Amino acid sequence: MKKILVTGGLGYIGSHTAVELQLEGYEVIIIDDLSNSNQQVVDGITTITGLVPTFVKLDLKDKTAVSDFFNRYSGIEGIIHFAASKAVGESVQRPLLYYENNITALVYLLQEVEKHQISNFIFSSSCTVYGEADQLPITEQAPIKVAMSPYGNTKQIGEEIIQDTCKISSVLKAISLRYFNPIGAHESAAIGELPLGVPQNLLPFITQTAIGKREQLTVFGDTYDTPDGTCVRDYIHVVDLAKAHVIALNRLINNQNTSSYEFFNLGTGKGSSVLEVIQSFERVSGVKLNCKIGERREGDVTAIFADTKKANEILGWKAEKTLDEATLSAWNWEQKINRS
Ligand code: WQD
Repeated sequence: MKKILVTGGLGYIGSHTAVELQLEGYEVIIIDDLSNSNQQVVDGITTITGLVPTFVKLDLKDKTAVSDFFNRYSGIEGIIHFAASKAVGESVQRPLLYYENNITALVYLLQEVEKHQISNFIFSSSCTVYGEADQLPITEQAPIKVAMSPYGNTKQIGEEIIQDTCKISSVLKAISLRYFNPIGAHESAAIGELPLGVPQNLLPFITQTAIGKREQLTVFGDTYDTPDGTCVRDYIHVVDLAKAHVIALNRLINNQNTSSYEFFNLGTGKGSSVLEVIQSFERVSGVKLNCKIGERREGDVTAIFADTKKANEILGWKAEKTLDEATLSAWNWEQKINRS
């Protein structure tokens, strides 16, 4: 079996991707520093696939530990790099933590990729690289603007570092996947978005309010230039997102890439407002949500959703799950973790 290293593989998107990689027949090796996840996620993955991924607790900021890891684990066919800090708001408050964790760690990882001649690399990027879109839906040709947060800047810089490395490498091929808003959980409710601390993102805050862990959801502003005044985002089911990673990895392993560095938007192509997400949740859960309209949140863009033609036509991938399926899966997961 081909060995695939998944950094941050016990995290939200990483764990869902580990499941899809195992189902595809890959041997999965996970490294994670457990700063935003926990080791029980390994059991969740195994519950779904019946296969136990190799797990190594490792901090990618520890250059020596990273080097030792690659000396121990040879024959790695490809890497999917999720490990990073990802809260937009937190990155504004703690920029150096984000530059160290998201950039320095990437450099140490790529140095090992070069040393061990690993040729297939998938990077977890983000639609935040686009900033406020001039035109919607947004395509991969949209200009990369000045990032609106240090988090978004680390994704822009990360893409540039990988592209520059591919240019000089004789073996490295890479694909950056620009996620829009990942939501939902695996239908088994064996894995999902782990609630560590107060959720920054909309859907976990909704489900925690509905289950009674949070008092009330605040909608951050309803005076935006959108149909109902609330911000619009492209909410994509995390399992659709996970499947796209396997397709992108296969593309590289099978040498179907047309250049050494490629990048794709991963979204549904449909924009949904905050109020529409709340209405979807209330429809599928039967729970009336306690929410109020509050002040705008610093750094929020008015609207962004993906033009998905490139991924549809070149990767042959298309998001299949609906917003209702995603909100229901998130609710099932919230109820599951509050039972145990
Ligand atoms: C969505 C909307 C909020 C919470 C995320 C990730 C980022 C990147 C892009 C991957 C906004 C509103 C939220 C709340 C609210 N993904 N909201 N009340 O900011 O689009 O960014 O997707 O890289 O990493 O963070 O997502 O879920 O925080 O906000 O009204 O309590 O919901 O104002 O309009 P965002 P989000």
